[in-house]
Amino acid sequence: MVSNDNHVSLFEVGARDGLQNEVAVPTAAKVQLINALAHAGVKRIEAASFVSPKWVPQMADSAQVLRDIERLAGVRYSALTPNITGYQLALSAHADEVAIFGSASQSFSQRNINCSIEASIERFIPLIELAKSQGVKVRGYVSCTLGCPYEGKIALSEVARVSAILYNLGCYEISLGDTIGIGTAHDARNMVQAVSEQVPIAQLALHFHDTYGQALANILACLDTGVRVFDSSVAGLGGCPYAKGASGNLATEDLVYMLHGLGLKTGIDLEQLAQAGHAISRHLSKKSGSKVANALLG
Ligand code: HMG
Ligand code: MG
Repeated sequence: MVSNDNHVSLFEVGARDGLQNEVAVPTAAKVQLINALAHAGVKRIEAASFVSPKWVPQMADSAQVLRDIERLAGVRYSALTPNITGYQLALSAHADEVAIFGSASQSFSQRNINCSIEASIERFIPLIELAKSQGVKVRGYVSCTLGCPYEGKIALSEVARVSAILYNLGCYEISLGDTIGIGTAHDARNMVQAVSEQVPIAQLALHFHDTYGQALANILACLDTGVRVFDSSVAGLGGCPYAKGASGNLATEDLVYMLHGLGLKTGIDLEQLAQAGHAISRHLSKKSGSKVANALLG
């Protein structure tokens, strides 16, 4: 299926997927980053994560972050929530929507959220039901869609099965994660095609980490399946604490540059985005992980 839609929706995960795996930065720096992203035209920002602070201490100040940010009209500020406790904390801090995160790999599910795939689904059901009753949108992540750090290749049927379960439970969008950034273009495309037999393509998002430098190529290879939602991380921040060696998501600046070059619209000001990435990289005392930002800003 070829989509004629030339608008692409970017879901920015730098402040969560990125910063959860960096040395802890001050709350004020997170707030500054999120505000700068919104001013650059980013409309969907994952700003926080209400997980156990024992598991991910970098996200322990999530409630404060959500309280301190400027709320720009038309921008949705989202939070990651593994269970009802997290959901309630997210709502108290006025998250606009939440995201649950399951996995296509049993081993990764166990390491990441301390339970099997089946147990995680049982845990998500009351969260989704409560969210529905309160009119809160729930996004669903599926990790390890192109490979698992513990199990290697994951069957496409399993990726499609877990995706369909989360979608049928009520997630409005399913984000397919290449958590360790190992996939290549052919596999990425096959994966999207397999999942799209169970979940409408308009409800799919791609969440590719860039560990092996394949994320842009993978997105390019998937564009003509019709997918129009991509997760990315400003300055290529981050990785995954339960996937050793995984680098950050594809840098948002690099993705925006490619999409604009293809004539697709993101609504994002690339220069301002690159400035936001440089500011947070300075806080982390590291070079931005975006080639485009480094080229633009020198
Ligand atoms: P557990 O130890 O099995 O849970 O952890 P528990 O229910 O037994 O609770 C243990 C303690 O945590 C208790 O406190 C709870 O109150 C507390 P204690 O009695 O010991 O003082 N607790 C919480 N505290 C704050 N917020 C909460 C919460 N829940 C329980 N929501 C649990 C299970 C899911 C909580 C844990 O495993 C966890 O927090 N895991 C999160 C791991 C994580 O954040 N990973 C990174 C995000 S996933 C990712 O990056 C992949 C993604 O980007 C997609 C991709 O790349 O593919 C999304
Ligand atoms: Mg991720």
